[in-house]
Amino acid sequence: MKLFIDTGSVAEVEEIAAWGVLSGATTNPSLLAKEQDADPGESIRRICELVDGPVSGEVVSDNVRDMVAEGHALAGLDDRVVVKVPFGSEGLAATRELVSNGIPVNMTLVFSAAQALLTAEAGASYVSCFMGRLDDISIDSESVVGEIVDALGPDRDAQVLAASIRHPMHAVIAAKLGCEVATIPGKVLKQMLGHPLTESGITRFTDDWTSRPEFGEWLRGLVEQSTAASR
Ligand code: E4P
Repeated sequence: MKLFIDTGSVAEVEEIAAWGVLSGATTNPSLLAKEQDADPGESIRRICELVDGPVSGEVVSDNVRDMVAEGHALAGLDDRVVVKVPFGSEGLAATRELVSNGIPVNMTLVFSAAQALLTAEAGASYVSCFMGRLDDISIDSESVVGEIVDALGPDRDAQVLAASIRHPMHAVIAAKLGCEVATIPGKVLKQMLGHPLTESGITRFTDDWTSRPEFGEWLRGLVEQSTAASR
């Protein structure tokens, strides 16, 4: 499963892209609106450079004509932009039109397998199912995402993108269910890093190694030799 970052913050993408694990990013109007003094177009362009993969930017109009116009404008920001379109009859029609103009679409706010089937038929590249928001209203997100993956079948063209990820287990569940992508907030990506046994293990290795100073000397020498040889 590919990992995207779900954010409107360039600084957050800069920090986490350096880990080398991001294949793309998603923004939405709420995430971009949180970034005071940032220009949304500049943010989307910079995020495209940083992740060097698909970056979703969302349309906000409620009619097909304006959704399509906004979609074209967003796609013009960078070749890596994927236009995010909210689910609904207008959104489906806008998706069909954008896709037929060669613009990839991420259909967002999908909460059921029935909606996912319509989304795939409209030609969307990504079907974004919001796990956290389902759990918030006591609908089990795991079974809904599982139904979507099953309904679209193994030979699907549309990729199932798990969104509204609130904790590391959502990401693990999405991967086990066969989602192609999960888009994950920076805070949750950081939670995925940590494990007390990793931290205590590193401390123990470091302490044992530094208890033998001559080993430290040896490793420094080895690094110097290898650096000199590669010049
Ligand atoms: C998806 O692309 C959305 O940006 C996002 O996952 C929404 O999640 P939320 O429920 O945390 O707002």
